[in-house]
Amino acid sequence: MHIKKLIGLFILSLALVNCKEESIQITQTQIIPIPNSIELSDSFFTIDENTGVTYDDNLKVSAQFLKNFIETGSQITLKQGNAIQFLIDETLEPEAYKLTVSKKEIKIEASTDQGAFYAVQTLRQLMPVGLENGAFSENEILIQAVVINDKPQFSYRGMHLDVARHMFSVEFIKKYIDALAMLKLNTFHWHLTDDQGWRIEIKKYTKLQEVAAYRDETLVGHYSDRLHQFDGKRYGGYYTQEEVKDIVQYAKERFVTVIPEIEMPGHAQAAIAAYPELGCSDQPVEVAKKWGVFEEIYCPNQKTFAFLEDVLDEVLELFPSKYIHIGGDEAPKTRWKNCEHCQALIKEEGLKDEHHLQSYFITKMEKYLNSKGRQIIGWDEILEGGLAPNATVMSWRGTSGAVEAAKSGHNVIMTPTSHCYFDYYQSENDDEPLAIGGFLPLEKVYGFNPIPEELTENERQYVLGAQGNIWTEYIPTEKHLEYMAFPRMLALSEVVWSQPERKNYKDFVSRLENFHQRLDALKMNYANHLYDIEYETERINDEVYFKLDSNLSEDKIIRLELNGSEPDYESRVYTEPILIDKSMEVKAAVYKFNSKEKLGRTFTQNINYHKAVGAKITINKQPYKAYSGSGAQGLINGISGSDSRYGDKEWLGFWGEDILIEIDFREELEINSIKTRFYNSNGQWIYAPEKILVAFDNNQYQEFNLANDELLINFEFNVANQRAKKVYIKVQNYGTIPEGKQGAGNKAWTFIDEIIIN
Ligand code: ACM
Ligand code: ZN
Repeated sequence: MHIKKLIGLFILSLALVNCKEESIQITQTQIIPIPNSIELSDSFFTIDENTGVTYDDNLKVSAQFLKNFIETGSQITLKQGNAIQFLIDETLEPEAYKLTVSKKEIKIEASTDQGAFYAVQTLRQLMPVGLENGAFSENEILIQAVVINDKPQFSYRGMHLDVARHMFSVEFIKKYIDALAMLKLNTFHWHLTDDQGWRIEIKKYTKLQEVAAYRDETLVGHYSDRLHQFDGKRYGGYYTQEEVKDIVQYAKERFVTVIPEIEMPGHAQAAIAAYPELGCSDQPVEVAKKWGVFEEIYCPNQKTFAFLEDVLDEVLELFPSKYIHIGGDEAPKTRWKNCEHCQALIKEEGLKDEHHLQSYFITKMEKYLNSKGRQIIGWDEILEGGLAPNATVMSWRGTSGAVEAAKSGHNVIMTPTSHCYFDYYQSENDDEPLAIGGFLPLEKVYGFNPIPEELTENERQYVLGAQGNIWTEYIPTEKHLEYMAFPRMLALSEVVWSQPERKNYKDFVSRLENFHQRLDALKMNYANHLYDIEYETERINDEVYFKLDSNLSEDKIIRLELNGSEPDYESRVYTEPILIDKSMEVKAAVYKFNSKEKLGRTFTQNINYHKAVGAKITINKQPYKAYSGSGAQGLINGISGSDSRYGDKEWLGFWGEDILIEIDFREELEINSIKTRFYNSNGQWIYAPEKILVAFDNNQYQEFNLANDELLINFEFNVANQRAKKVYIKVQNYGTIPEGKQGAGNKAWTFIDEIIIN
């Protein structure tokens, strides 16, 4: 296989040897997102000073994009002529295209300019990366002959960006939109307002600019840190209407629709700081200085509705999008419960409770926007208390909201935290920049299937597509934002564009390795975890084995040490799984074969051998699918979870359920202690249990109460020489989160880690 590939490349380069073969290092597998069908031929097309372009007037934007890409990227100027043709083919679907490169011509066929634009983005990836930044200095561009037929899987292909927590320059927003366009993403969801800042100029309400756009200072470190500290620096700003128009127009020329999000009724503290009469209490509040969910939400009174309609009037002038996002997430009902006006309104309208009042609020705003010819999108909380009649649901808390909405005939957009939150950690390395939490590595993004299993064939039509979300509480700079966005945005592009049967992670990784050069040329500060090592444990015949893996191709190997010392080029080569029969510290790294060159970072894993390793474990409930770690067996594999990433392989997450764990040693053992840990990150609605029960064999359960004011809650139970064949552990879920706490009204999550028995 390896030899054959080399020969293939050799023949190709012989054919091109007189034609600057270094210019044509593209092979059929390099395009991201991968097209539907690719047929490669041996010849190539040459673009030079004599190459001409013609285009149907309806395909002008894409033709101009290509001309501009070539002319600014190289010294070549294109002429009028038939070598590159942009042609209308009415039989193709709106975003589809056919790209034909032959020795004598390039043909781009599409029924719309947008389809032709995607052909150009593909063609761009068939050209040398030097064109991306003007570094290409030769006078011909060679493009391999190919026929590509392509069209997207989903019509909604989005990326979100929160500019409220931290904001980014207009120039950077354009760079972000450029990246979306390159990856055939067609929607930019711009999160413009939140508790920590209002970022869009509204001319009728000047205090939004003077007050709501600035906070006095910002939280330093993580929200979960015990002591909150602040930086003492005023932070803020906003996009002027001229800047917004410029961005919307820029996006339009790249077939990216900008959907603005104006949050209501929650995440409104900045607006209420500017205009206290919009809240229930009319008390002054400040623009929020830390993260989380705040109780200051809009009061559904006349002033609020007049304000929001005025704001939306200006927003609609700026954004021609069919959809307007009205937020709807995380609106605590405390203020409404204690507000005379709100309670009177509930009675007057015959509403059941505050959730129905939220539904009343959203429905009223929906009517207003529908009357202006627009549709609303809201986060999945808009289902609570009844969905507004024409709303599209953006499902973020798992996928149950999407299922409920689709089953009732509403459109949905998938952005579940488990697969689409690019503010989560992407690597288990300790040197990652501080993130909000969670764990969403590239492969998990890539593996996302936007269509929930629970939907029937007919209901699937309601899934418009998916979106990656980037919340910026912990992302203050543009470089950092790029690091979080890339390469996960590339994986997402393939999730939403490519046909599922074309997806293959190993193949994607090899294309990504190549794509790094393009990202370098574009000065993107992407993360590279391709040579990170991942582990897995496997139980075979009551023994547990530790396995290592990375994205290894023929010329890469893993070298390791088991005693905690740093591996080098002489360390043993990993060839087979390691039996866990004692405690050890594994360190490993990917090396080039036959070379001293180390690729990527050193992987380190502590393995703590204890009496339950190799035992049999059962849990009476399945963990939540997206947080199923290494399954139940992972709780007794000798490996503890990360201190900061509850989404890793070792933590198991259960949503709102009590669980009963049974550990069966198969023979009677002497037990002296049982230890485990619970995650307690309340901002993510993860609450450690308050009660644990433990029993040995058929004995009575003993009950333990846990405190829960730290991020990690240790449970430890010491017994003297207890003999038992089985241990039972009951973990009681925290229950529905009470008012006043993060996530109030929702079911709490339980996250449990390694159960260490000695
Ligand atoms: C969200 O993450 N609050 C939609
Ligand atoms: Zn009120």
